[in-house]
Amino acid sequence: MDTQQDADRRPGREAPTTPVENSTIRTQLAHRTIRAFTGEPVDEEVMTSLLDVARHSPTSSFYQQTTILWVKDPGLRHEVHLSSGQPYVGGTRGELLVFVVDLHRNACIREEAGEDLEPLGRTTLFLEGVEDTVIAAQNTVVAAESLGLGTVYLGSIGGDPQRVIRALRLPRHTFPLLGMLVGHPDQDPQFKPRLPAHLTTAVDVYPQVEDWGTALADYDATVQDYYDLRDANRRVDSFTHQICTKPGTGRAEQAPVLDVLHEQGLALG
Ligand SMILES: Cc1cc2nc3c(=O)[nH]c(=O)nc-3n(C[C@H](O)[C@H](O)[C@H](O)COP(=O)(O)O)c2cc1C
Repeated sequence: MDTQQDADRRPGREAPTTPVENSTIRTQLAHRTIRAFTGEPVDEEVMTSLLDVARHSPTSSFYQQTTILWVKDPGLRHEVHLSSGQPYVGGTRGELLVFVVDLHRNACIREEAGEDLEPLGRTTLFLEGVEDTVIAAQNTVVAAESLGLGTVYLGSIGGDPQRVIRALRLPRHTFPLLGMLVGHPDQDPQFKPRLPAHLTTAVDVYPQVEDWGTALADYDATVQDYYDLRDANRRVDSFTHQICTKPGTGRAEQAPVLDVLHEQGLALG
């Protein structure tokens, strides 16, 4: 068993650095997902500010196709927990936000004006709503982390999207894309190493790689030194092994998402 001192010497204990830094960039590079929170609630005013930041995010075509629900009711949170299946979504620790792709508002506006709803059923419009929603969510993460709070995205709420839709009374033309917990961190995880820059960024044309196994050998070794606090004290699998075994296995990755989107009147063509 490793001692705490061993753990502190392992890679991933210091945030990555970059040539040009300021407090915003340092906050972004110091990102770690937090999955355990103290019992201290987040101040109402802080939550208001996080939601204000989210609301002022860039928005595709100025359509503002996102709505954020702060789920406070324990019964409703339980429903989201059941859809997610992840233990930290239940209980009371961390504030639960649900980021909803929302074309309903604009559907109502068009209906009231006697305009048809056909454009809102197009996949392009849905994708614009997804873009708005993800951008609002990530702005929330940066703002929360800049205040010393921790966050975890919850793609897992998509395990049973109909359950979330029913519980939160989401109308037609909406879809619960992501959950998020925001709270006071009760853990100090490592910084999870990212793929090397030369494989994920390039100038002009797509990076040329002859043999991914060789290209990723060092990264695989680095990743295996990371300890995921979801499963304390267990090294994570190499990146390439994760990619060969995980995709498609999570509950949310097996949900009938296209059927649900169609029932909601979204991404019809
Ligand atoms: C869209 C999205 C959905 C995610 N969903 C979950 C989730 O359901 N549960 C969870 O524990 N972490 C979730 N995560 C967190 C990722 O597992 C995490 O970002 C990744 O492992 C990298 O670790 P780091 O954020 O600590 O650097 C999600 C992240 C993103 C961006």
